[in-house]
Amino acid sequence: MRIKARIVRQLAMDQRAFGGFETTEYEVTTDTHTKRVVDNKKYSHYYPRSHFPTRVNSMVRFSVKALAVSIGAGLLISMGSVSADGTVNVYSYRQPFLIKPIFDVFTRETGIEVNTVFAKTGLVERLVEEGDNSPADLIFTVDIGRLDGAVQAGVTQSVQSDVLDSNIPAEFRDPDGQWFGLTNRARLIVTSKDRMEEGAIETYEDLAKPEYAGKISTRSGKHQYMTALIASVIAHTDETQAEEWLRGVKANLARKPQGNDRAQVKAISEGQCDIAIINSYYMGAMMSDEEQSSWADSVRIVFPNQNDRGTHMNISGMSLTQAAPNKDNAIKLMEFLSGDLAQRMYAEQNHEYPVNKDIAPSGLVQSWGEFKYDPLPLAEIARHRVTATKMVDKIDYDG
Ligand SMILES: [Fe+2]
Repeated sequence: MRIKARIVRQLAMDQRAFGGFETTEYEVTTDTHTKRVVDNKKYSHYYPRSHFPTRVNSMVRFSVKALAVSIGAGLLISMGSVSADGTVNVYSYRQPFLIKPIFDVFTRETGIEVNTVFAKTGLVERLVEEGDNSPADLIFTVDIGRLDGAVQAGVTQSVQSDVLDSNIPAEFRDPDGQWFGLTNRARLIVTSKDRMEEGAIETYEDLAKPEYAGKISTRSGKHQYMTALIASVIAHTDETQAEEWLRGVKANLARKPQGNDRAQVKAISEGQCDIAIINSYYMGAMMSDEEQSSWADSVRIVFPNQNDRGTHMNISGMSLTQAAPNKDNAIKLMEFLSGDLAQRMYAEQNHEYPVNKDIAPSGLVQSWGEFKYDPLPLAEIARHRVTATKMVDKIDYDG
């Protein structure tokens, strides 16, 4: 089945209740029909905190439900309609346009409602604060750094699932089941088509060569995408060699690290630099954007390290929360998201690579060609995050 999602409208929700969360209205088109997925009824699923059923409330309801059993089956049925059965609650750093269409297909297939709180920051802190009373079952985020951070904060629990283990390669999930990757993104090098020879840069290590002085731009070394890349270099070499490499990259910077990944490509298109490091899906996003497609057109994609360890990959992913009042439903959703249909939707919507290797990337992403990726488990790379962050400070990468 072919599925496409199109954003129709984006809304800023009640700032006071939601702390600045946004929701998106969109259409999902399949071979057989088109459906406007978010309607007024669906908006009610973006519950402010006070509307989420808390663990305490669930327990109270359970007591009432038990009482109902003793006084009549009819009352039990009516209580069933307000219990936490049939729901799963998600805290998400991922944007609504990416995951709401997939959650809605899950609800249609299983009857399990998905309530979602979207935020840009603070969800792990909120889980810590809520503790055992948290209503959240799952947390969705991008980057191994944030997933590892949630584990370190003690807000996740282990999941053992044959479905997840077979759909998700071992390098993209935690050996203990604390987190699972859902999508992959390659950390690419892009080079100016006009000012760089094809094949001049082939590896992350090449970025430190003196001949590229004044040509490179990156975002802040403190950003999680850079932290993971630096951690992977540490994992493949050692701290001393990695620091020498990072000093070499810094020495080649055309300007102080600034902006996001797309801003680096814009800078190449404007002639401010010739080489940048970016996540792969931003190429897809820029190519699909009227204003930004000229930025993307100005660069060529390099999949680094094809003749040795392969290109560094990161993930977006999910964890079951420590509290997880709807654990069974949550695991059903996790398994669904790793399956064919959800993986296909992810691939089409954000130009990421499906983590499930049975599913092909989008046509646009396929057009960039196949490549070898670094199979070193992300759990191993995550062990070097702190060292990577300290190294960025030590050499004053951003300074
Ligand atoms: Fe990103």
